[in-house]
Amino acid sequence: MKVLLVNGSPHENGCVHTSLKEVADTLEENGISAEIHWIGKGDIAGCRGCGYCKSKGKCVIDDDVNSIGARVDEFDGFIFGAPVYYSGPAGQITTWMDRFFYSYGGKLAGKVGACVVNARRGGNTASFERLNQYFLITSMVVPGSQYWNQTHGLTPEDVMKDKEGLQTMRTLGRNTAWILKCIEAGKKSGVEFPAKEPKISTNFIMPKE
Ligand SMILES: Cc1cc2nc3c(=O)[nH]c(=O)nc-3n(C[C@H](O)[C@H](O)[C@H](O)COP(=O)(O)O)c2cc1C
Repeated sequence: MKVLLVNGSPHENGCVHTSLKEVADTLEENGISAEIHWIGKGDIAGCRGCGYCKSKGKCVIDDDVNSIGARVDEFDGFIFGAPVYYSGPAGQITTWMDRFFYSYGGKLAGKVGACVVNARRGGNTASFERLNQYFLITSMVVPGSQYWNQTHGLTPEDVMKDKEGLQTMRTLGRNTAWILKCIEAGKKSGVEFPAKEPKISTNFIMPKE
C-alpha cells in the first residue's frame, strides 16, 4: 500500500516538508510506502470552472495536477501539507487541490485523505478545517490524530523543536497505516466500499436544469 504526501509549500525542504517527512517516515516504519511530492514554486493556474474534466476525466490545464491525476490508482491515501497564509491554507495548494479534486475526485472515494498544516504562530485550525472539506465531500476516509494535525515554525529547525507537533504527525502516520490495513483486511473479507446512489443535485430547492 502506498500514500502520496503532497507538499503545498513554495519551499521544497521547509517546515511543511519537515512535518510531512515525519508522517512519511512513520508510514514506512508501519509497512506503508510513502512518496513525497512537491508542487513546486511556480505559478499554479486556478480552476476555470469550464467542465472539461467532467467529460474528459482530466483537467484542461495539463500540468502537475494531471501528472499526479494519471497516477491516482497507484495510491491508497493522500496527505496534503500546507503552509498557513493569512490564517488559511496557501493559495498554491488550494488552487492545486481545487483542480485535482474536481478532475479526479470520483477516483478518490474510499481512499484515505488527510492534511497537515504549519504556521509560524496562528491560523492552523482554520486552515486544517478548510482542507478537510476536500476529503469529506469526496467520501474519503479521514484518520484522526492526538491533536489537530499542526506544527509551528518559520524554519525546519523550529518545527524540529515542536515536539508535540511532531508527535501528532507520528500519530497521524500510525493511524493512517492502521486504517489502510483495516480497509485492506475488509476488502479481503468481502467488505466492499458502498455502492453509490444515482446523484441527486439541487440548488437548495429545485433540481438543476
Ligand atoms: C504570505 C504569507 C502569509 C503568512 N501568514 C501567516 C499567518 O497567517 N499565520 C502564521 O502563523 N504564519 C503566517 N505565515 C508564515 C508561514 O505560515 C510560514 O512561513 C510557513 O508555514 C513555513 O512553512 P514552509 O517553510 O514549508 O514554507 C505567512 C507567510 C507568508 C509568506
